Amino acid sequence: MRIKDSVVLITGASEGLGAACAHEFRRRGARLVLTARNAENLERVGAGEDCVIAGDITVDRHREQLIAAGLGRFGRIDILINNAAHGLYAPGSSSPPELVRAMFELNYMAAVDLTARVAPGMRERGTGAIVNISSIAGRMTLPWFTHYSASKAALEAFTRGLRMELGPHGVHVMSVAPGYLKTNFQDHVSGGTPPASIRGGRRFATTAERCAGDIARGVEAGKRSVVSPGVAGWALLAMNRALPGLTEAILARLNGKLDKQ
Ligand SMILES: NC(=O)c1ccc[n+]([C@@H]2O[C@H](COP(=O)([O-])OP(=O)(O)OC[C@H]3O[C@@H](n4cnc5c(N)ncnc54)[C@H](OP(=O)(O)O)[C@@H]3O)[C@@H](O)[C@H]2O)c1
Repeated sequence: MRIKDSVVLITGASEGLGAACAHEFRRRGARLVLTARNAENLERVGAGEDCVIAGDITVDRHREQLIAAGLGRFGRIDILINNAAHGLYAPGSSSPPELVRAMFELNYMAAVDLTARVAPGMRERGTGAIVNISSIAGRMTLPWFTHYSASKAALEAFTRGLRMELGPHGVHVMSVAPGYLKTNFQDHVSGGTPPASIRGGRRFATTAERCAGDIARGVEAGKRSVVSPGVAGWALLAMNRALPGLTEAILARLNGKLDKQ
């Protein structure tokens, strides 16, 4: 789908990947609707005619106002990028349910509701794109991140269903699986701390800017899936698919080491 002159709604646009997507899509000629809770940071990312609406997307009223503001300013939403999310470092068997629920409200339910609000217009116009920012963790479960993986796996399943449902009506649906991004994501988790051995993985990380470029190219090329960084991410996923038992054993061992830390 053509990005130039498209109206793009990006959640979690105040920093990290969302902010990088805002810059990348603006550079390609898009008109932007941006949201996140931190109004000051969000204003810094916004520019020119952008529609900048600060608020919490887990709140129904904010999602309603966000869509109304975007439609009021531009008349339509062409591309929705469901990006806002947070993590939770806690064992799957003993995570506080209220933290798990709150994470699902952000990582899954907010995306479901925003999609429901924009999809009918896209279907009617016979064009549009829904981009769900998942994670490598949504395609293979990381034991130090079990419920985060589950929230992203739910988003992956939702994305596949949407593609089959909306694709025939001209709506492009794409899932994005970043590996490790150099953002402040780890500081924003709702509980726990990232294990030292995992933090070391930052040397395999890519930048939010490169990932945003991959996303924009994926939208323009109509891809069903983007993995970023590509080679390392696909290699990991291929290993998980070909040798699931071995992959789980390696991850369990890593996780066991964590327990002892
Ligand atoms: N970083 C990684 O290594 C990595 C790896 C794989 C996948 N991902 C995925 O990539 C996406 C972006 O992650 P990131 O690394 O850019 O994370 P980040 O730096 O923590 O940014 C998260 C963004 O979401 C916003 N946000 C959080 N809670 C919100 C809420 N309730 N309502 C509205 N906005 C909210 C934050 O802004 P405010 O605080 O201003 O609300 C911020 O703009 C996420 O979907 C994440 O799961 C990240």
